[in-house]
Amino acid sequence: MTASAGPARRIPMIGTSWKMNLLPSTAPAWFGTVTRGIAATSSDPATADREWFVLPPFPALAAAQASLEGSPIRWGGQDVHEDDAGAHTGDVSAPMLADLGCTIAEIGHSERRRDHGETTAMISGKVRAALRWGLTPLLCVGEATQGVPDAAIGLVEGELAGALRGLGPGDLAQVVVAYEPAWAIGEGAQAADLKHVAALHAAIRGWLDARGATAVRVLYGGSVNPRNAADLLTVPGVDGLFVGRAALDPEAFVAIATVTLPQQENGS
Ligand code: PGA
Repeated sequence: MTASAGPARRIPMIGTSWKMNLLPSTAPAWFGTVTRGIAATSSDPATADREWFVLPPFPALAAAQASLEGSPIRWGGQDVHEDDAGAHTGDVSAPMLADLGCTIAEIGHSERRRDHGETTAMISGKVRAALRWGLTPLLCVGEATQGVPDAAIGLVEGELAGALRGLGPGDLAQVVVAYEPAWAIGEGAQAADLKHVAALHAAIRGWLDARGATAVRVLYGGSVNPRNAADLLTVPGVDGLFVGRAALDPEAFVAIATVTLPQQENGS
């Protein structure tokens, strides 16, 4: 793996998906706590250079737009259909997301692959749909079962190649990757250990850099919480965090989103 370009500056990105939690009526309280909490640290140089996002369920996206417009927090969908319109009952398209002010579409989460049988071809189509509408595709990759890093690297590189195949450099540069080992996600799970995270992020970084995608950020997801966020963020190659259940508590999300790092070393 050869880094074909010099190190790009990648602004750390911290966000959350609520998955199928909270309600349109309870969402504004969450948005309020988080926007106030983040605004309170805006003069702190440690967090000034950071991006944040939230991916509520579709019915709460209008509330996100109403609450977050003009704030530094981006919002987006947890999924997107490959097509722009048509006979696809229950699905949501990229122009619908864009119309609600979304700037991100999460694609290929392990729960979507598991519950909805999403295939590589579908995931690749979703990435293209997001790009057509100016949405950042947040592409989730990660191995299903716990094992040695080498086995996981092979699987993850296969997922990247399948999802991103055929994209030109301009499109590739718009993507954000979330490395999320499925075994580290959800109730009862624990975050992957830092060595595993370092090995996988180095491999993903190498894969992207070899294709000139030096600006693409690679987030870690899987049982992130306020206690492990700083350690995970200081792993070389970790450009941000993608948080699930811990962030349902807005104060906990603020703690993660504004965490101060001992030494700002990541990103090179
Ligand atoms: P978790 O979910 O933080 O609840 O483990 C992470 C994810 O699925 O992105």
